Amino acid sequence: MCRELLNQFLLEGRCFVVTGASSGIGRAMAEFIACAGARSVLVARREQELEAAVEAIRSAGGQADFVVGDLSQREALVEIARQCKAKSPRHVVDGVVNAAGINLRQAVDDITLDSWDLTLNLNLATPFFFTREFVPEMLAQSYGRVINIASLQSSRAFPNGLAYGASKGGVCQLTRAMAEAWSRDGICCNAIAPGFFPTELTAPVFANDDTRDWAAVQTTMGRNGKLDDLSGITLFFASAACGYVTGQTLHIDGGFTAR
Ligand SMILES: NC(=O)c1ccc[n+]([C@@H]2O[C@H](COP(=O)([O-])OP(=O)(O)OC[C@H]3O[C@@H](n4cnc5c(N)ncnc54)[C@H](OP(=O)(O)O)[C@@H]3O)[C@@H](O)[C@H]2O)c1
Repeated sequence: MCRELLNQFLLEGRCFVVTGASSGIGRAMAEFIACAGARSVLVARREQELEAAVEAIRSAGGQADFVVGDLSQREALVEIARQCKAKSPRHVVDGVVNAAGINLRQAVDDITLDSWDLTLNLNLATPFFFTREFVPEMLAQSYGRVINIASLQSSRAFPNGLAYGASKGGVCQLTRAMAEAWSRDGICCNAIAPGFFPTELTAPVFANDDTRDWAAVQTTMGRNGKLDDLSGITLFFASAACGYVTGQTLHIDGGFTAR
């Protein structure tokens, strides 16, 4: 009974595609998923960084591969997905983590149609169109997991975050809509909304003592995130254990949004 309970969290035999896995949150999530026994297929543009991430997983005894691709190019998504499926021994991807994202931090008056499109496209459109490529096989096996990455800015407005916040607000609703579309057939779709975690994306926040400390003080725990703080929720959302949880966004933010 206890063994069965714990086995729910194991991902052996599964294959997960993780976008944005050349650095930061995506890379960490690809590592957690591989630690639980799945094959992680890492996707991003920078080949050297992907190679290093895959090597780190393999050195630790995990299974990983990578596919190089620019997920902002809509016409490339079908081919990137095809290459990801080819990395899976069963040619089936059991789960998709949509962690590729950008935050251009532009003042309202500096936002252009192009910068708006880039942000909304990569952060909001790609998670839908890319994930949809894997859904037919998930439906055929009545099992799948989708994990999107939302943000504090899904529900809070920060300076210089208008386009980013709009995209991340959309990610929460996209997650509910994916659940509505697919979870009757066994595909659970959820989102993680991280607080402040030190990555390339948040380098400007962490490079400045004032903004870094401000972010920590906003939490009820008095500290910013560490990437390992995302391990438990990643395994839960990726595993059989979340079989009756779908359409949800869970804040992993040390209590930032509790205030
Ligand atoms: N760090 C935080 O505190 C925080 C908080 C809330 C939400 N988030 C979200 O978490 C996600 C991951 O961000 P992060 O903090 O881990 O930042 P990061 O280290 O900058 O990671 C972003 C990832 O996205 C990939 N990427 C960017 N543009 C891409 C493109 N056109 N095609 C393919 N891949 C692309 C990057 O890889 P390449 O450059 O190699 O392509 C990189 O792997 C993002 O959605 C972000 O909005 C982060």
